[in-house]
Amino acid sequence: MPLADPPWPPPVNRVRRYRNIIVKAACNLRCTYCELKKAKVDTAATNASIGLILDRFMPGETLVRVEADGEIGSYPPILDYLAERVRADGYRIEVLTNGTRFPQCIRPELLWVISVDGHTAEMNRERGLTQAQVDVILDQAVALNADLQCVYHGQPLEAMNGFIDELARRGYAGRLHILPLLALAGKPLTKHLDYDRLHKAPFLEQEGYFRHWDYIYQHGRRGERQCDQITNGFNYYVDNDRIEMMKCDSYAPLPRHLTLHGLQSEPEYDRFPCGTCLSNQEYNNCRPQMAM
Ligand SMILES: C[S@@+](CC[C@H](N)C(=O)[O-])C[C@H]1O[C@@H](n2cnc3c(N)ncnc32)[C@H](O)[C@@H]1O
Repeated sequence: MPLADPPWPPPVNRVRRYRNIIVKAACNLRCTYCELKKAKVDTAATNASIGLILDRFMPGETLVRVEADGEIGSYPPILDYLAERVRADGYRIEVLTNGTRFPQCIRPELLWVISVDGHTAEMNRERGLTQAQVDVILDQAVALNADLQCVYHGQPLEAMNGFIDELARRGYAGRLHILPLLALAGKPLTKHLDYDRLHKAPFLEQEGYFRHWDYIYQHGRRGERQCDQITNGFNYYVDNDRIEMMKCDSYAPLPRHLTLHGLQSEPEYDRFPCGTCLSNQEYNNCRPQMAM
């Protein structure tokens, strides 16, 4: 049978820009794989800085992720400010949280991304969560249609499959993003997940993501595939009234000049010195939240 002509003009798939705002803040957890975060946060100054960053972007053309290097859920005035900017200006803002302040921290205007390493306390041992905390996170993930961010630090495959099955049983309609324990300073990845033996579900990343993980694990470098952060993303760092900018922190040893102090125009780079990371930004442009 002859193939049908491809449509003309070809369909356009425009995606938003992705701007990640990382607030320097304290954390209420002591995850073993993360650095200890302590900070004194002036929420008024922080909100003013976030406001200056938001004002640079058209609400309809940008997805903004706000997270703390500590825990954003511990700062209700920041969440209130973000919710207000959504109401007043129509921004699309997602917030990354450890979920321990649920349900009090929920602001229905915001989109949610929750860090959790499985459906049991044992899988969340490195995060120090109790089963009751994990249960609240999963209940809210389903109710809020939140995305989940799961660090793969060596949980047994059967446990990972149990997690996927549990989410499927609950009718989870978000996106389960599994990322390897980061190897800092450009070192090789130490954790690998066997995609072929992983239960498949519509909320998992596409196969290409896991194959790229295989590649980085085997070769100790990212190869030619460009992460969507480099195409569509930029990071902003807020420390009260201080703002810094950088295309990506990429967990590699980066030349100093890539950190920009104060607000300025965003440079584009022909090549970026990526490390060995594989994270939520990889196929960011495929997320429904990024569609215009
Ligand atoms: C630093 S936390 C801060 C945000 C918030 N408190 C949370 O837990 O989501 C940001 C994300 O980095 C992840 N993370 C921290 N250390 C990591 C590591 N060594 N490898 C991979 N992911 C890591 C956390 O699990 C979390 O999803």
